[in-house]
Amino acid sequence: MADATGAEPRVVTEADRGGVLPEPGAAKPDPILSATGIERRFGGVVAVDVAHVEFQRHQITALIGPNGAGKTTLFNLLTGFDQPNAGEWRFNGTSLSGVPPHKVARMGMVRTFQLTKSLTKLTVIENMRLGAPDQRGERFFPALVKGLWSSEEDEITARADELLERFKLDHMREEFAGSLSGGQRKLLEMARALMGSPELVMLDEPMAGVNPALTQSLLGHVKALREEGMSVVFVEHDMDVVHDISDWVVVMAEGRVIAEGTPTDIGRNQAVIDAYLGTHHGEDLHPEIVEHRRLEAEAEAEALEQSAEGDSDDDTAERP
Ligand SMILES: Nc1ncnc2c1ncn2[C@@H]1O[C@H](COP(=O)(O)OP(=O)(O)OP(=O)(O)O)[C@@H](O)[C@H]1O
Ligand SMILES: [Mg+2]
Repeated sequence: MADATGAEPRVVTEADRGGVLPEPGAAKPDPILSATGIERRFGGVVAVDVAHVEFQRHQITALIGPNGAGKTTLFNLLTGFDQPNAGEWRFNGTSLSGVPPHKVARMGMVRTFQLTKSLTKLTVIENMRLGAPDQRGERFFPALVKGLWSSEEDEITARADELLERFKLDHMREEFAGSLSGGQRKLLEMARALMGSPELVMLDEPMAGVNPALTQSLLGHVKALREEGMSVVFVEHDMDVVHDISDWVVVMAEGRVIAEGTPTDIGRNQAVIDAYLGTHHGEDLHPEIVEHRRLEAEAEAEALEQSAEGDSDDDTAERP
């Protein structure tokens, strides 16, 4: 298969794999994030059941798999937005069991959401400022010292402006996030995630619903993160995109990691092909899954409605 740049894939050599075996749970030379025995059940549904997985530092790892494979649930668990029924996971060697999301972010791991979470009734710059790791909450004393406080605020604003410029959103600075296009919101979410200068960025379908012109720019931004020394894990359905930017691919199906390898390894892996072909073919879906999918579809419709509202004048009337 040709990749997004039209080039034919090269033959995979040992060097491409960096000595890492192309198999589920493969050990990496310097993992930034690793998880063992992670299980998450919803009633009778086993959403995640990962025996072991490691994500290599300074690489872009794609997490792929059919709908309902457990990718988003795994993201939620690893970043503290959900708690597993069992399992252990480590970021930079430190266990994150029970650590809440804002602390996980402060430790250097941030994530974006499949359905963007920008606050539509806040301006772009306000959304950005909210991305700064909690500055005052736990530090009462500096909050009392006006000088310290405002210089910190200035720093946050300066960082936000720098990122808005980099993501070409500076001209939208004072607009409501609700008035941005879907693609611009994805950019805003990525920019906001960088406010705390993370080491690891977890992106859940950053390219979904983005028009082709912005896709290229988003891909460029993701590659730039790696160039700046960050590590990236991203969920993606488009295999051309996966080929184009990932160093390594982890494949999930039915909650498990079923394959790992370079994009070329994965393209010809029979278990992966079977997993994609086998999805929802003649299989009776568990009623709980059906209900969850219905709720998800509703949430998505609601988000779209809100963004449509955000485009109208009514929204401006509610300006705080
Ligand atoms: N809160 C929940 N309650 C019940 N079931 C859930 C919940 N969250 C996820 N699930 C179920 O867990 C499974 C994994 O879902 P998840 O959203 O993690 O998949 P995914 O790989 O991200 O799929 P997609 O590619 O469609 O985003 C699915 O069967 C889903 O319906
Ligand atoms: Mg998902």
